[in-house]
Order: sequence, then structure tokens, then C-alpha cells
Amino acid sequence: MSVDEESGRQERKVSDRVSDHGDKMVSGHRVSQVVASGPAKRTSVRESAGSPQDAVPCDRLQRKGLLIALEGIDGTGKSTQLQLLARRLREEGLEVVPTREPTDGPYGRQLRELFLHRATLAPDEELRLFIEDRREHVADLIAPALAAGRVVVTDRYYYSTAAYQGAGGHDPADILAVNESFAPRPDLVLLLVAPPEVGVKRVREGRGESLNDFEQEDYLRRVAEIFAGFNSPGLVRIDATGTMEQVRDEIWRAVVQLLAARKMTTGGGHGSN
Ligand code: TYD
Repeated sequence: MSVDEESGRQERKVSDRVSDHGDKMVSGHRVSQVVASGPAKRTSVRESAGSPQDAVPCDRLQRKGLLIALEGIDGTGKSTQLQLLARRLREEGLEVVPTREPTDGPYGRQLRELFLHRATLAPDEELRLFIEDRREHVADLIAPALAAGRVVVTDRYYYSTAAYQGAGGHDPADILAVNESFAPRPDLVLLLVAPPEVGVKRVREGRGESLNDFEQEDYLRRVAEIFAGFNSPGLVRIDATGTMEQVRDEIWRAVVQLLAARKMTTGGGHGSN
């Protein structure tokens, strides 16, 4: 048996549990196996991702704050909604740290440059860069902000890696498992849902941009299928086809529930949205 096969076998012991529905269960996540229709499997995720030896064990992170991730395919309005949410949380008197991935750090900048020339980047290398970017993001910003009691709101997090690099042929369940070995789990994942054709249209017309290599329509369709298969505690689906205000209000309802559960809101004075 080759080293690859052997390491793949060991990984499966850790990460593969198949539910009654034939879905893969990974540390509390159910990941429908839609990826089977995507391109051929790549090499081991753990190999591409490198070893997590320098990772902060996320269970032991001192965690007084909250981590909220906005996820979804391109063109679902995450960036706009992140700004609206950050403002609203500040009105609640909370200290908010808005952020995004890819980050503006060295790995994130490299990824953004590669968006236009993705074909030049091997899928394993692409996955490695996203994970390295996240390691830095967690160590430099997310973990310290959570320890200081702040509310971190991130535009994309590791569900994007599972969906996008999953659509590129890696196993989404393994990607989630590797990320959760070093990255704190979000208290709330707001998954903005819109049909891929709506996302594509918004990117083309709304932003006046052509689609980058991560955003090609067929690819986005596979990404959307993988997002649709996620079913984790703390993940809330938001209908992103409504108006900006409708989406904002639906997001706020989910966030209010989280704040109330954590006793982080006075619960008064701001109307119904
Ligand atoms: P995006 O949020 O669209 O950035 P911008 O608004 O600046 O264009 O993210 C850029 C692309 O990166 C997007 O198409 C999804 C992709 N992506 C991945 O493929 N994997 C990841 O882990 C992340 C965070 C993003």
C-alpha cells in the first residue's frame, strides 16, 4: 500500500462516519456526498493542508466573544450584509471586529492575485494557501478578539473552503475536519442562499465585474450544492433572494436569538429589525 493510500485510510478512520441517510458525519456536521459528482478526488487534504502542529487547540481558546460567519456563493450580498450587521451590533453596544477571507495578509493577497490566473495553481496548492491564510487569520485576529470578548463577524470562513475547494475535487468533509483542528467553530453561520444564476447575474451586472476563476457558473453550481449539503449546529439558512432590507432583517432575527442565548443583549429599544 502506498503512503498516500495508508494516510488516506488513517484519515478516514478519524473523519468518516456515514449516517443512516448515507451522508458523511464529521464532528457534528452532516455533509451530503454531492461532491461525488464533481471532479476526481485530489490527494489527501491533510497533506495539502500541512500539519496542524502549530495550531492553537480551538477547544482551549479562551472564548468570551462571539464568532459569526457569513457564507454563501458569490453574489449573495455577504459583504453588504456584513456591514449592516456590524453597524447594528455596535448599536447594541457590542465591540465588533468585521473581517474577511481571503484576508489582506500575505497568503490572502497571493490568493487574490491568483483569482485571475487560477489555472496556473494546482488545486492542492490552492487549498494549502487558503488554509495558511486562515491559520494566520485565527492566530493574529480571530482568537485574540474572541478572548477579548469582541464579536468577530467574518465574510467567509472555512465553510467556503469546504464548498469551493470541495467543488474543485477535495473532500468537503475532510476539509471541515482539518479546519476544525485549528480554527474556532463559529457560534453562528449565516448561510446566504440564492440560486447560482442569481449570484452570477449579480456579480456580472451589480458589481460590473466579469467572473473570476473561482466564480465560473458550473463551478458555482457545484459550490452551491455542497453548501446546500451542510447541516451543522449553529448554521442558519438565510433566503438571499429578497431585498437588502428583508435579508438584513432575517439575519438580525437569527443574531438576536444568539445574543439572547448568550445574554449579550439588553433586548430593548431598537424596534423589530
Ligand atoms: P470574495 O468573498 O468573493 O471576495 P471579493 O468580494 O473580494 O471578490 O472571495 C473571493 C473568492 O475566493 C470567492 O470566489 C470564493 C473564493 N474562496 C475560496 O475558494 N475558498 C475559500 O476558502 C475562501 C475563503 C474563498
